[in-house]
Amino acid sequence: MSTPVQIGRKGDGPRVPEFVHVPREPMSAATRTARLGRFVASTWIKRHIKPDLHIQPIAAELFLTDNCNLKCISCTCWHESTLGELSTEEWLSVVDQLAQLGFIKLNFTGGESLIRRDAVRIIAHARDAGITDLHVNTNGLLLTPERAEELVQAGVRSFNISIDGPTSDVHDPIRGQEGAYDTTIKHLKLVKQRPDADSLAVRMNFTVLKDNHHHLPAMAALAKELGVDLYLNLGTDTTFMFRSQSISEQTEIDGDSLRAVLAKMTALVEQDPTHLPPQRELDYIPGHFELEPKVDVPCVESQLKLMIRSTGETGGCWGHDAVVNVRNMLIADIIDTAHYRKEHERLFAKDCVECGSNYAVNLRTQPATAASVTVKSILQKTGRVRRERGRT
Ligand SMILES: C[S@@+](CC[C@H](N)C(=O)[O-])C[C@H]1O[C@@H](n2cnc3c(N)ncnc32)[C@H](O)[C@@H]1O
Ligand code: SF4
Ligand code: SF4
Repeated sequence: MSTPVQIGRKGDGPRVPEFVHVPREPMSAATRTARLGRFVASTWIKRHIKPDLHIQPIAAELFLTDNCNLKCISCTCWHESTLGELSTEEWLSVVDQLAQLGFIKLNFTGGESLIRRDAVRIIAHARDAGITDLHVNTNGLLLTPERAEELVQAGVRSFNISIDGPTSDVHDPIRGQEGAYDTTIKHLKLVKQRPDADSLAVRMNFTVLKDNHHHLPAMAALAKELGVDLYLNLGTDTTFMFRSQSISEQTEIDGDSLRAVLAKMTALVEQDPTHLPPQRELDYIPGHFELEPKVDVPCVESQLKLMIRSTGETGGCWGHDAVVNVRNMLIADIIDTAHYRKEHERLFAKDCVECGSNYAVNLRTQPATAASVTVKSILQKTGRVRRERGRT
């Protein structure tokens, strides 16, 4: 039986959320930059001076739904239907609350967020509430030119589109649907052909798994051909949605095989880094798959983002589930509870189940540590230091 969590809050106990829409001017670029700068400075202070410093998240991951139109082998979203998800009105209230709190970025994700008919309405509401950095993660199947137009009109400025292989032979079996590759690639190309494509950031997300890691160099070629950045998600089995024995098996990648592929990637990056992951991200990958000790960077991602699940649970991080629900408490109060503060002190220090989520953010915000990882990796490759081996 699980132990009930004490949700201590300063003040008079939980408040029930109420719907309070306040249209706002779009957040200026200067305000956004200032908030980001203050956040990064706070993480430095928390790491080096004041470990219990409370950092308010400034970005949110909104899981509009946990349901999906695909059956990926790396994900459990489709294993059962999720019922009782937040209604349109509840999401609008969430968005308003985040705008009031000064959040600078919202990521709309899932499940497949585009299966919700009200996705565009919720996103447009965020734009009207003044949030300018609006992002969608999608498997691309429903990203028709008409839907893309609606989303862009609603304020979306960036898309991550998942492609798990350079051909349908690789992508479709991983995504559990024949024809998925052709549809997703067609939609991605059409987004890139929009007249405003230069003002949209379109990224291709490839999740590194046992079944597709060999294809990384071909993915690099595809990224260059399509003119989109390649981001490497690292197959994980510790976060919600990804906890299952079959997914764990996909994270057990042979060490020699992965290193050989990464060496090819390094050569490609040295030739021309355009659209490819930076070397510091490639150097992080063996540690994630427990082939070397993990890189010791604090989890900035856990401080940056507020996770809001489709059924309203809010807080936690990718690897640690939230226990408080937006249906019972205002977000301002949730992030002020003793429980949230204590959890986030622990998560920043990586006293956690560890996951690969947005390792790139953690590396980017700790450049000194990332640089030392790259130097160590170069020394290992040239035989100047011994490689420490874990699971192979
Ligand atoms: C859960 S999906 C939600 C958005 C959308 N349905 C999609 O597939 O892009 C978000 C990202 O997680 C990736 N992903 C799937 N299984 C994963 C796993 N086991 N570990 C890490 N990332 C994974 C997906 O490929 C996708 O890029
Ligand atoms: S990874 Fe995305 S597309 Fe695949 S099952 Fe999970 S939510 Fe659906
Ligand atoms: S690395 Fe740890 S703290 Fe960071 S998101 Fe993953 S589980 Fe949470």
